[in-house]
Amino acid sequence: MATETDPAQAPIRDWRQLRRLLAYVRRRWPLAVASVLLMLAFNAAGVAEPYLVKLGIDRDVAGGDIAGLQRTALWLGLIMAGGLVCQFLFNVAVQSLGQRLLLDLRLDLFRKVLELSKDYYDKTAAGKTLTNVTNDVEAIREFISEGIVSVVGDLLKVGMIFVAMLAIDLKLALMAFVTLPVFVLATALFRRSIRSGFRSVRKANAEINTSLNETISGIREIRLFRIRDRFAADFAVHNRNYRDAYLKTIRAYALYFPVLEGVSNLGMMLTLFAAHTLVGVELRVGVIFAFFAYINMFFRPLREMAEQFNTFQAAMAATERVLHLLDQPVSVQDPAAPAALPARFAGALEFRGVRFAYDPEAPVLQDFSCRIRPGERVALVGYTGSGKTTLISLLNRLYDVTGGAVTIDGTDLRELPVRELRRRIATIPQDVFLFTGTVAENIGLHVPGIGRDRIEAAAREALLHPFIEVMPNGYDENVLEEGRLLSAGQRQLLSFARALVREPDIVVMDEATASVDSATEHLVEDAIHNLLRGRTAIIIAHRLSTIREVDRILVLHKGRLAEEGTHDELLARGGLYSQLYQRQAFLSA
Ligand SMILES: Nc1ncnc2c1ncn2[C@@H]1O[C@H](COP(=O)(O)OP(=O)(O)OP(=O)(O)O)[C@@H](O)[C@H]1O
Ligand SMILES: [Mg+2]
Repeated sequence: MATETDPAQAPIRDWRQLRRLLAYVRRRWPLAVASVLLMLAFNAAGVAEPYLVKLGIDRDVAGGDIAGLQRTALWLGLIMAGGLVCQFLFNVAVQSLGQRLLLDLRLDLFRKVLELSKDYYDKTAAGKTLTNVTNDVEAIREFISEGIVSVVGDLLKVGMIFVAMLAIDLKLALMAFVTLPVFVLATALFRRSIRSGFRSVRKANAEINTSLNETISGIREIRLFRIRDRFAADFAVHNRNYRDAYLKTIRAYALYFPVLEGVSNLGMMLTLFAAHTLVGVELRVGVIFAFFAYINMFFRPLREMAEQFNTFQAAMAATERVLHLLDQPVSVQDPAAPAALPARFAGALEFRGVRFAYDPEAPVLQDFSCRIRPGERVALVGYTGSGKTTLISLLNRLYDVTGGAVTIDGTDLRELPVRELRRRIATIPQDVFLFTGTVAENIGLHVPGIGRDRIEAAAREALLHPFIEVMPNGYDENVLEEGRLLSAGQRQLLSFARALVREPDIVVMDEATASVDSATEHLVEDAIHNLLRGRTAIIIAHRLSTIREVDRILVLHKGRLAEEGTHDELLARGGLYSQLYQRQAFLSA
């Protein structure tokens, strides 16, 4: 956890993290090198300008050398133009460096998000992962492309200003440096106040986002339970906090410049006066001009370095979170040497002494065994929380068993390539998720080789076709994420079509419990009938009609197979199944 690291370890941690970040910079090294060189060039130009002006005044004008003045002016013009061009190119280079980094890092993170097994998502809030890929990566980009580069640039610039001042007048320069502690002190104070200010701004901003997010996601509940006023009041508070925090930071900015400028100019005047009267330094107009110019050039780099310290801290915290995500182990892995796959699975399934627990303290399955013959259709029933969905997850290898084995046609699942395995098994979850896109895309899911005719055939088989036909754009009708266009029943049919289009060997279904009207109910029954025809199937059944459709019923209880048989057999037996049935704990006919 980002907040729990030992502060004494922070520098070591920061250094290790920086090294890994720099690996991303190294991938884009030509841009990084170009950025540094360009920055050097335009900073040098900036520092050279007052020096040239000083030469023009003290040497050319004082000496009455008009041709010399013209030459100096020409040089000044060229250097200014060169500096501007370099600055422009630098900005382009450094921003593309930042954007490329963002791209690389985000892509790596996204791949990781796709690769991670379900157990990661079980224990991580979605918002956290989302923030890793968006805000955290952005904080890192800001640090790399604006932070590191500008700190290096600022240090260089400060160094060059020193050198230029020393070159103009050694004694005067040394005396002027006496005012430096004022800058450092003012900057340190400034840094402290903007740091706490930015922290409050960030916090207030996060609160605004959270509040807004909750309001939008929960808008239905807010209306139904009439809690609008409370949300409005909360939001107003967060909004005000943000304003106050922001204004506080702005006050620090507003003070820093005028105060520092005043103090430094005053200091410079005193220095010049003292140098002249006490040490007898000769004061020339050009020198005075150049010194004032340099002292005022000091602020920007100093202030930026102070600001960049915050960027650095924010970036290190972000880096820690991002690396934490990148370093997450992938618990379900492909075997090193996958077993050869037959063209089709016959569909013989076996659970052999399967043990599984999400949390070692609370085992869900303990010694669950059963065999399912090719083409057999079985229903899985049991009390809520008995582990039915878990069994299906194990068959798909969303998790690996902690003991025993699951086999398919005699081969252990762990010897098969994971993606291939999931391709042959169509799993229909209890609730359907619809992606942004058209109806056809939601059925075919962009799987290569699945054309419109296959999609339509699957939709017909799933009895969804008549509903699509009447939509204004047919199969090209857009469904939003929430799928508001489709009713609950239609969404179920769509999930069947999604399974059918892939021509699976095995069908696994977590039957939806959502009640639909009786007309749709019959439709769903018929569609299930089509779905199961000729396939090995496991169904977590909630409907009597589905129970009647299957060959055998498995009753799961306390992590084991408690009973098995047909509906009538099990009822006659008067055991757990008949209890379940009588209590209507799971069946709605
Ligand atoms: N992702 C998870 N992380 C931790 N524990 C889990 C997770 N999923 C399920 N469990 C726990 O495992 C047990 C079995 O859950 P499972 O979802 O398999 O039950 P189920 O039989 O499908 O129930 P239902 O009929 O209500 O769908 C429950 O006690 C549940 O709390
Ligand atoms: Mg379940």
